[in-house]
Amino acid sequence: MALSEASISTALRCAENISVIPPLTGAVGNTPMVDISALLNKPGVRLLAKLEGSNPGGSVKDRPALYMIEKAEESGELTHDKIILEPTSGNTGIAIAMIGAAKGYRVKLVMPGCVSTERRGILEAYGAEVVLSPGCQMTDGAIRLAHKILAEEPDKYYMPNQYSNPNNPLSHYETTGPEILTQTAGEIDAFVAGMGTSGTLMGLSRFFADHAPHVQVVGVEPGLGHKIQGLKNMHEAIVPAIYDEKLLAAKLLVLDDEAYEMSRRLALELGIFVGMSSGAAVAGALRVANDMEQGTIVVLLPDRGDRYLSTNLFRSSCAECPP
Ligand SMILES: Cc1ncc(COP(=O)(O)O)c(C=O)c1O
Repeated sequence: MALSEASISTALRCAENISVIPPLTGAVGNTPMVDISALLNKPGVRLLAKLEGSNPGGSVKDRPALYMIEKAEESGELTHDKIILEPTSGNTGIAIAMIGAAKGYRVKLVMPGCVSTERRGILEAYGAEVVLSPGCQMTDGAIRLAHKILAEEPDKYYMPNQYSNPNNPLSHYETTGPEILTQTAGEIDAFVAGMGTSGTLMGLSRFFADHAPHVQVVGVEPGLGHKIQGLKNMHEAIVPAIYDEKLLAAKLLVLDDEAYEMSRRLALELGIFVGMSSGAAVAGALRVANDMEQGTIVVLLPDRGDRYLSTNLFRSSCAECPP
C-alpha cells in the first residue's frame, strides 16, 4: 500500500525529533510543578510544589552533580584517568554515580553508615564504590574521611566538593530558577526550600535577587540532632563554604515530627510520595502561608518517598510495626 503524503511528512517529522533526543544527562531538570494549595485553608494563597524527584536520578541533586562534573570536564580538572570521590549523605552520591556511569567515570562515595539501605543499593547498581564513615558522625564524618582519602592520593581523584563548589548553586541559578519563573509566569512571592549544602537556597536567592527581587527566599533548617536525611542544622554541622545566611529573607526551624507528619499527609491526602526533607520544606511553607494574606509560594520537594521505605517514615501509623 502506498503511503500518503501526510503520513510521509509525519514520519519525517518524527525522524527529525529522534535525531535530537539527548543522552540521559539531557533529561536532568525541567521537573513538574503541582498545586498543593489544598493543604491550606486560605483562598488567597496558592502553594505550588516543584517535584524534583522526577529527575532521572530521583532527586534535586542531579542538577548540581551534572554541573559540577561538566564544568570540571571543561576546565580539564576531571579526566577519565581520575576517580570521582565525594562525601555524600546519599542523593548527590546517586546523582554522581548515575552521571559517572553515563559518562564512563569510576566513582567512589563516602557516606555515613546510617543512611538508608535503598540509597546504598542504588549506588551499587550504578557500579559505584561505597566507603562507609561512622554513622553517628552523620555527613561531617563522611566529609572528614573523604578528605583524608583525597589527601593520601591527590592525583588519583577528582572531588566535586558540593559544599564549596560554586557550580552547585550555579546549577540552580541557571536551571531551577528560570524553570520556576516560567512555570509560575512570574507570579511568585516566596520560595521555600530545606537547607543541606544550601546550594538550592543560595542559587535561587541570587537568581531571584537578579530577576524577581520581590521574591522572599526562606530556608528551612532541621532541629539539633535531627533525622532528616539531606538537611543540616548549621549550628551542629560543618558550615558549607557556599552558605551565606545574609541571602535568606528568613530561616525557619522545623522539627522531625512535624516534617515526618507532613510527608505522610502529602502521600495520604494528595498522592505526593516524597521524603522527609520535602515534608520539612512543606511544613515551613505552611508557616509562610499563615503569615500571608494573598500570593503564591513555591516549595521545592527534593526527592521521592521510595528512598525511605526502610526507615520508619511511612510506618508509624501502623500499630503492629515498631517505630
Ligand atoms: C533529600 C534532600 N533534601 C534536601 C537537600 C538539600 O539540598 P541542598 O544541598 O541544595 O541544600 C538534599 C541535599 O542533599 C537532599 O538530599
